[in-house]
Amino acid sequence: MVEAVEIKSTELIPGEFIETQVKAIADAVGDGEAINALSGGVDSSVVTMLGHKALRNRLKTYFIDNGVMRKDEPQQIVDMFKPFGVNVQIIDAQDQFFDALAGITDPEEKREAITQTFYKDVFGELVKDSGAKYLLQGTILTDIDETIAGIKRQHNVFEQLGIDPQEAFGYKIIEPVVQLRKDGVRKVGEALGLPESVFNRMPFPGPALSARVISEATRERIKTVRTATSIIEEELAETGAFQYMAILHQDKVTGMRDNQRDFGNQIEIRCWDSVDARVATPTHLSHETLTRLANRMVTEVPGVVSVTYNITSKPPSTMEAV
Ligand code: XMP
Repeated sequence: MVEAVEIKSTELIPGEFIETQVKAIADAVGDGEAINALSGGVDSSVVTMLGHKALRNRLKTYFIDNGVMRKDEPQQIVDMFKPFGVNVQIIDAQDQFFDALAGITDPEEKREAITQTFYKDVFGELVKDSGAKYLLQGTILTDIDETIAGIKRQHNVFEQLGIDPQEAFGYKIIEPVVQLRKDGVRKVGEALGLPESVFNRMPFPGPALSARVISEATRERIKTVRTATSIIEEELAETGAFQYMAILHQDKVTGMRDNQRDFGNQIEIRCWDSVDARVATPTHLSHETLTRLANRMVTEVPGVVSVTYNITSKPPSTMEAV
């Protein structure tokens, strides 16, 4: 296993980095084909552009609709990449993911279910159908650090855990941004000409909204957290925070509505200041903002009777709750 040597964002020369990685992808794939999954986040967007430069139409780019993405996300991503000549194909894999998540309550088992469904079932099939031998993906150094440290099994880390993707899934994985952290990837994204809305896009985890539902991620519970997420993203867009999210708790609490007992859901809001996701502190949101968020949550998200704001730093917290 070759260990990735970190390129600090202060030492990064984006033009040189792009040239080196485009050549590395072209050399590795030769005259074959590769596939990649674009989630629309900055890491996979940068990898898509590097792969597109190296392989043009020999790279097939897919958006996997796993049923746990945010509102309207699939079509937004397709539209976002059209101007770059990147043709993104949406794969509807919702049933496969919900079947895999059914009955799972443990956080790490949930992450494992997502990983297996992505890599074995969905990509495994796509690779078989296309004849591609390579999958390009946007793993970054922080994903590897946290997985090795045993903090959280990031959905996209294999080699460092002793898993050979070729053996396990039938294809090789190329990771062009594995030497970078989030701030470095953003710089490369800007140099690649991606719009600011993409290179400064808020991070979003591979397990998507299933990482934001404590306990079982059913269709109904995902719908609840999706609605809450839309509200938070609308209300906090101007804060400039690194990442903000809604988390649906497992425990219900007693609330009241129309003078009746309403035993309902709790939503936890998290909003983080961070540079590279390794450490983070909660953003000092004003009481007015928090009150507005709470009011919208209890009126616009069915079944929610309680809203809290997380005031813990990472560490010992992590950013996502699962
Ligand atoms: P945590 O929760 O570990 O999150 O403090 C740090 C950053 O990583 C994102 N995250 C993930 N990204 N696959 C990813 O691609 C994952 O499995 C995953 N888990 C967490 C998280 O959103 C935050 O930006």
